[in-house]
Amino acid sequence: MDKILVTGGLGFIGSHTVVELQNEGYEVVIIDDLSNSSENVLDGITAITGKTPIFEKLDLKDRPKVESFFAKHNDIKGVIHFAASKAVGESVQEPLLYYENNISTLIYILKELKKLPSAAFIFSSSCTVYGQADELPITENAPVKQAESPYGNTKQIGEEIISDTCKVTPSLKAIALRYFNPVGSHESAKIGELPIGVPQNLVPFITQTAIGIREQLSVFGDDYPTPDGTCIRDYIHVVDLAKAHVVALNRLLQNKNKANYETFNLGTGKGSSVLEVVKAFEKVSGEKLNYKIVGRREGDIISAYADTTKANNELGWKTELTLDDAMRSAWKWEQKVRKG
Ligand code: UD1
Repeated sequence: MDKILVTGGLGFIGSHTVVELQNEGYEVVIIDDLSNSSENVLDGITAITGKTPIFEKLDLKDRPKVESFFAKHNDIKGVIHFAASKAVGESVQEPLLYYENNISTLIYILKELKKLPSAAFIFSSSCTVYGQADELPITENAPVKQAESPYGNTKQIGEEIISDTCKVTPSLKAIALRYFNPVGSHESAKIGELPIGVPQNLVPFITQTAIGIREQLSVFGDDYPTPDGTCIRDYIHVVDLAKAHVVALNRLLQNKNKANYETFNLGTGKGSSVLEVVKAFEKVSGEKLNYKIVGRREGDIISAYADTTKANNELGWKTELTLDDAMRSAWKWEQKVRKG
């Protein structure tokens, strides 16, 4: 079976994708620098799939090491590139760190892929490229807006680099997957989201509050022009998201792509407000969540959810799990982590 490189394969979305790739029979090699993950994740992947992926601890900014990695693994057929820094606030403080981490590493990998007779490349992009879209739900044709942060900009620039490279490299085929809000964890609770420090994202903040690590969830604003006044997002279960990567990879490896470079939105198509997420959590966990409404968070958009038509029709993929499933699995994972 084909050998696939997963960069950032020990991270949140990466580890769930490795599980789905191995379930499909792919041979997986992981590169991860462990800057925001742990080698223990390999045990979780092995426990779920019965197979241990090859793992190389490597910093992708180290170009000679990247070259020797590809020289050693010259039978790689595809790359799913997750490895990147992703904290929006930190990117504002440390723009060069973000441009170096997210852009130079992408360039080094693409340079190696150009040397191969053929290669499939899947890029982790984000719905952040649309900013506050004028029309909802958001289609892939919605204009890319001026990025709000260096992090968001690295996703926009990353997409342009890939698109430009594909134009002049017939041997390279690529898909950028624009994720909406990935949440939840594998139902086994053997892998999941492990934010370092205070979580910036809503769902880990909710589960950490419920388990007692955080005192209270701050809901950022209830005066938005939405039905309950809180912001609306498209929360997609990470297992559905992981499966979409396998489908996208198969599309490229089986030459079913319609262009050398394609983009797809990955979401459920359904928007949920912050308070609806809190309610879903309370329902499935039976816990009462301590939260209070505070002021708006700077840079937040009002509402974003995906038009999934292109992904549904072209990829033949759709989400199967619900927000309740996601909250149930996130809670199971949080309880398991704290017990451990
Ligand atoms: C955030 C990033 C986005 C990135 C994505 C990756 C910002 C402004 N945006 O998206 O660029 O691609 O994460 O996962 O950081 N909320 C609260 N209280 C909290 C945390 C969040 O009320 O403690 C609310 C937010 O205001 C928002 C919703 O929950 O309405 C989701 O927030 P979050 O999980 O941070 O995701 P995004 O802001 O959509």
